[in-house]
Amino acid sequence: MQTVKTQQMLRTALAPLRVGNATIALVPTMGALHEGHLTLVRRARAEADHVVASIFVNPKQFGPNEDLDSYPRQLAADAAMLEAEDVALLWAPDAAAMYPPGFATNISVAGVSDGLCGAARPGHFDGVATVVCKLFNQVAPDMAFFGEKDFQQLAVIRAMARDLDLTRPHVDAIIGVPTVREADGLAMSSRNRYLTPEQRAAAAALPRAMQVAAAAIKGGTGVAEALGTLEAELLAAGFASIDYATLADAASLVPLETLGEAQARLLVAARIGGTRLIDNIAVGS
Ligand code: PAF
Repeated sequence: MQTVKTQQMLRTALAPLRVGNATIALVPTMGALHEGHLTLVRRARAEADHVVASIFVNPKQFGPNEDLDSYPRQLAADAAMLEAEDVALLWAPDAAAMYPPGFATNISVAGVSDGLCGAARPGHFDGVATVVCKLFNQVAPDMAFFGEKDFQQLAVIRAMARDLDLTRPHVDAIIGVPTVREADGLAMSSRNRYLTPEQRAAAAALPRAMQVAAAAIKGGTGVAEALGTLEAELLAAGFASIDYATLADAASLVPLETLGEAQARLLVAARIGGTRLIDNIAVGS
């Protein structure tokens, strides 16, 4: 596996991968890799001839009081994991290579970016959309893989690609991969490593309470009542606050007051200690 840090090196390294109509899958990440990322890589490896992974802790998607400085960085360990998964190329630019002096463009996807995490983290999805658009243009993959753990992010990226006509040659398919969970149900996340052992144990209440709420809603309990119970359970388990607990249309992410015919998704963001955890699950109609 080759690691490249400049756009020129990236272009040079991509050329031989494209020979003979070979397909390329892109797995964009911010590093601090865990089994969730490796699952994306394995799916990518199964479906394309070559996998390109990117590691870039994107400053544009962090707010002023967020964890940009403390976000875990472990490039050598991450590179070893990717190499073991038969990744062909690691694109690991620094901030100056991604955003050279004078960089002035911002991509903002209205609507789907606005609620949920977008409301709690102003500008976050602009940063995500901007860097992912750049990654699509830089790598021009046949397919790109993203985890459903960041469900709203996936919706923003799909809307951005649709609106900006980012079809071939920029990217051919955007593929969402189901969330990978720890044995107790907690969704894998690079931020889980911020949790103390006590917080980590308490965090399992999040997926548990979400499953209970989803089953209650499916069983006919009112949405507001089920979400109220979920929030009370999280606070009782040791969560400090809940940013949101919402039932939403799975495609538009517009909040739902009742479960109808459309696919619905239960999405939650809650804080435990100083760590913000997010999760989402399908709620069948
Ligand atoms: O999900 C992530 O790790 C990031 O938001 C992404 C998609 C790599 C963009 O920086």
